[in-house]
Amino acid sequence: MSQGRRPPNPPEANVINALRFTRTPLRFLEGIQSRYDDIAEVSLPVGPSIVVVTNPELCHEMMDRIDDFARIPASGAAALISENGLVQTEGSTWQNQREDISPGFGAGPLETYVDAVADRATALRDGWDAAVDAGEPDRDLHRDMTGVTVRAASKALFGADIGAERAAEMHRIARQAATEFEVSPTTITPEWFPGRPSAETRGMAARLREMGEEIIETKRETRDPDTPPQDMLDFLLLAEASGDRDYPENHLRDQVVSFLIAGHETTALGTTYTQALLSWHPEVRERVRAEAREVIGDDEPGYEHAADLTYTGQVFTEALRLYPPAWAVLRSAQGAQSLGGYGIDDGSLVIAPQWSVHRDGRYFENPAAFDPSRWDDRGPSERPAYFAFASGPHACIGRGFAESGARVALATLVREFDVEVPRGQLSNLMVTPTLRPGDGVDATVSRAE
Ligand code: HEM
Repeated sequence: MSQGRRPPNPPEANVINALRFTRTPLRFLEGIQSRYDDIAEVSLPVGPSIVVVTNPELCHEMMDRIDDFARIPASGAAALISENGLVQTEGSTWQNQREDISPGFGAGPLETYVDAVADRATALRDGWDAAVDAGEPDRDLHRDMTGVTVRAASKALFGADIGAERAAEMHRIARQAATEFEVSPTTITPEWFPGRPSAETRGMAARLREMGEEIIETKRETRDPDTPPQDMLDFLLLAEASGDRDYPENHLRDQVVSFLIAGHETTALGTTYTQALLSWHPEVRERVRAEAREVIGDDEPGYEHAADLTYTGQVFTEALRLYPPAWAVLRSAQGAQSLGGYGIDDGSLVIAPQWSVHRDGRYFENPAAFDPSRWDDRGPSERPAYFAFASGPHACIGRGFAESGARVALATLVREFDVEVPRGQLSNLMVTPTLRPGDGVDATVSRAE
């Protein structure tokens, strides 16, 4: 039995709701958002209900109460990739991991990360230059941005750039994974990613685990035990060596694999979406360019520029509002719960949907407009209806990396290039654990005036 009054239930038949949710999840969430102030319960023909939380304050409360609303353990193909990374664990294991890892996100590692992003974005800029000279200006923008972010993340988190070849492989793997994990009509249980992984998916998972092992091996071979820890993997090895923790088997590899994915995918998506929006809003792009030219001048871009790229930061925030790479925070109710006075049954899938809350006219004026000036007076932390990085104990540990890295990556590229993305490239995004372009993002680059 749940505690409190029943949340309102959309009147349509359960099977209709199930189909709408699994066929067009984003439209479905927008519909629920527009009809319910706080919360709605969507019963399904089988299994526990889906509870959609439409009120931002209740979304934050749900994210705060990690014992009542727990993460959904990895199963199926997701478990083949990694089971014990910081993005998956709960309870004392998660707490200990977060404690061990946190120094890897301090001021020094942040600087390393942003400088690595600047280096990779500069290399991409050079690549675009060469492509334009060769008369081949057409790009897959998402693949280009994956190259920047995965190589910067591996350098900063593990101490070694995984290189161009493995970066391209990661992009292919992520596309394969997206097909496996796309929300579809079979996705109506809280296990979320059920079913038997295909041979292709098993191969992909094995390759990811292998890459994780390779990264750890390289670190063990190259690490000087007399040098204080510099990056996240150093801190993980230090914790392992101390013997104080009783971590599950494969913990280290699972962490590396999780961070290899979590550390780059959302930032690649966010910077890709930002550039698509800039291409459709040339007046905003001009302001970003003017800021980049003023702040960076003729220097090579780097960490020292991030703090002053404030307008570029607002542009990134606004892009993540409209196209949040993490489109929803998903939890499972642990026992009967009450939220905002509404009862939620044990096992219900509870959703705090960034996608629809970010687009709700009650919280954002003219919500469909891409308008970075809405952040002039109030920063993201002053608006509860914005939670692209989630909140509460599981809030994104990489937020500082992502926000500063994006400023520098965007400024580096926009300073010198116009990127044109055909309209409609973001109108058919795939709903997987992240919100992804199904088939790349076509773009044409040219040198800016
Ligand atoms: C635009 C970029 C990013 C976005 C939008 C984003 C978004 C999020 C969100 C919404 C969560 C909460 C997920 C949940 O609780 O279900 C999260 C958690 C997490 N993120 Fe990010 N993220 C970004 C970049 C990064 C980066 C760069 C890293 C690592 C370098 C990272 C690592 C993590 C980890 C490890 C967690 C789990 C934290 C925990 O449970 O303690 N993220 N992120």
